[in-house]
Amino acid sequence: MNEGERISAKKIPDLDHLQRRLYETLRVRPGLRVALFGYTYPAARLVNEFFSLLGGRFVPVCIIDNRRAGEPGPVKACPVVSFDEARDLAANIDLIAVMIDGPSLSEVLGQITDSPLRGKEILFVHRDHDPLAGREFAALAAQATEALHKRGVVWYTDERNWYSLYQFMQQTAALEGDVAEFGVFQGGSAWFLARLMGHFGLDEKLLFLYDTFAGIPESSSLDLVDVNDFSGNSAERVTQLMSGFPNARIVPGDIKQTFSGSNEGPFSLVHVDCDQYEVTRFLCEQLYPRMTPGGVMLFQNYAFGATLGERIAVDGFFKDKPEAVLTGFDGAAFVVRHPCD
Ligand SMILES: C[S@@+](CC[C@H](N)C(=O)[O-])C[C@H]1O[C@@H](n2cnc3c(N)ncnc32)[C@H](O)[C@@H]1O
Repeated sequence: MNEGERISAKKIPDLDHLQRRLYETLRVRPGLRVALFGYTYPAARLVNEFFSLLGGRFVPVCIIDNRRAGEPGPVKACPVVSFDEARDLAANIDLIAVMIDGPSLSEVLGQITDSPLRGKEILFVHRDHDPLAGREFAALAAQATEALHKRGVVWYTDERNWYSLYQFMQQTAALEGDVAEFGVFQGGSAWFLARLMGHFGLDEKLLFLYDTFAGIPESSSLDLVDVNDFSGNSAERVTQLMSGFPNARIVPGDIKQTFSGSNEGPFSLVHVDCDQYEVTRFLCEQLYPRMTPGGVMLFQNYAFGATLGERIAVDGFFKDKPEAVLTGFDGAAFVVRHPCD
């Protein structure tokens, strides 16, 4: 068994794919002398685990971190040094594993390029950016999931959709106007919207919730979702669910009737989740003039084949408007209302 095979035989659990790249590099080139940039938690963990599992095949020279220089390293052989001290160690370093992420990354690369460390091999070992793992969002989503499960609610939005709502609620918080959802079903995304409004201190805004609460009332030749889908529901049930949110207003009935006669608005954020062509086209026409400039219209099912009618309605309405229809990572589309003429 050669050195590389010996390393391969060791199992290190829970490496993300970038950490695994370092592991694979060491497998092919054992004994590589590594400096880590950034004394992060993953850096400390990596040094500890690689050091104990790979022994002399992993040579951690130092961890470079100006703010934490002088602190004890994760293992004795690997001191935490400042960038200036690392320059003096340049001759002992083969590879720099960059463990940091975000805006400081380009700063770090600039520092390396302007120093004796220039030309050293660089490997990025930072983690993928996962917005859903952000602490604030993750806590809100976990709370909503628990509350909805406890009340037996079935819902058709996922965490990526909720993340869009979270971002746009934050983005539009300071704007004048209320919030509305069209297509509530049993109230999954509605509960989350209400919770977000509380979280961002928007208790003075109202949250309008429009649905038949008895299923899809109509279908056109452009729609693939059938009449009466989503019928396992009632307005009383959703009213009960939302009873902890005094700013929620439940509006039962066919939206094409209940909303055309209403004078609600302006709106800073609207969430359209009706799946069907006719009602989505109707909502584009009705909502567009009632949006606050900078307000966001979110179309939940834009990218999905099963709700093609929604995309046709949105594209058709906005084709001669100045606003672009932008697609989010969750498949929803959003439109930011331009200032009115
Ligand atoms: C995909 S579900 C909404 C899912 C919900 N947002 C969630 O988080 O689970 C679509 C909803 O749109 C409603 N809907 C569709 N067309 C409608 C219309 N013309 N008037 C009122 N409600 C309508 C249906 O009753 C259904 O409850």
